[in-house]
Amino acid sequence: MAKDVIIACDFSSAEKTLDFLDLFTGHKPFVKIGMELYYAAGPEIVRQIKQRGHKIFLDLKLHDIPNTVHKAMKVLSSLNIDMTNVHAAGTIEMMKAAMEGLVREDGTRPLLIAVTQLTSTSEQRMQDELLIHASIQDTVAQYAHNAQMAGLDGVVCSPLEASLVKTNCGNNFITVTPGIRFADAAKDDQVRITTPAKAREIGSDYIVVGRPITAAQDPVAAYERCLHEFLE
Ligand code: C5P
Repeated sequence: MAKDVIIACDFSSAEKTLDFLDLFTGHKPFVKIGMELYYAAGPEIVRQIKQRGHKIFLDLKLHDIPNTVHKAMKVLSSLNIDMTNVHAAGTIEMMKAAMEGLVREDGTRPLLIAVTQLTSTSEQRMQDELLIHASIQDTVAQYAHNAQMAGLDGVVCSPLEASLVKTNCGNNFITVTPGIRFADAAKDDQVRITTPAKAREIGSDYIVVGRPITAAQDPVAAYERCLHEFLE
């Protein structure tokens, strides 16, 4: 299975993003475009980054009625992205609709992964506010199972949940894991973190790395360190 480091390009404008990507003369990193950049710069930034030869994970976490998600996914798929996502909380029916919307006329489609429980949601809040009376672990396992039933390719999860997902859904079910930090670096606002090497051991297929690369003195060196620790 493909394993890779995805750089979270959490920038506020197209200019800042393209200036950042200009640094990578010897690499074409897999890039994650999230809500901030997409809402600021629109589909044009996706086309521009694609044109430069990067793979793109469009992280917009869709969650709406199945018909709306189906139509939205059709539009996103036409941007020739490589990976995108939905909230598993939208139900199996919504995830199936998303998948159908993504299939292009030539039969190809981007990878589709589901967000299980956001890592920012604590078990306490999930139980008290969302009235989900289960453990986070059981919820993640159930949502991952639902995503698999809907035919999705995998889930976004905490690296600490990747092995739980692999045990429940099999090794071919993709895990995409943010919350990555170097052993000698700051945690920023992330709580449940792990190193690239540990993420590999646990069974992550793709690690999503933002500030350890984007805010580094030498982003290319930080990216190469991630590749080295995660892949070798
Ligand atoms: O800068 P940092 O490495 O913390 O960035 C992680 C990226 O992964 C951000 O774009 C963040 O929104 C995203 N993410 C996350 N935790 C999740 C889902 C997505 O950190 N559960």
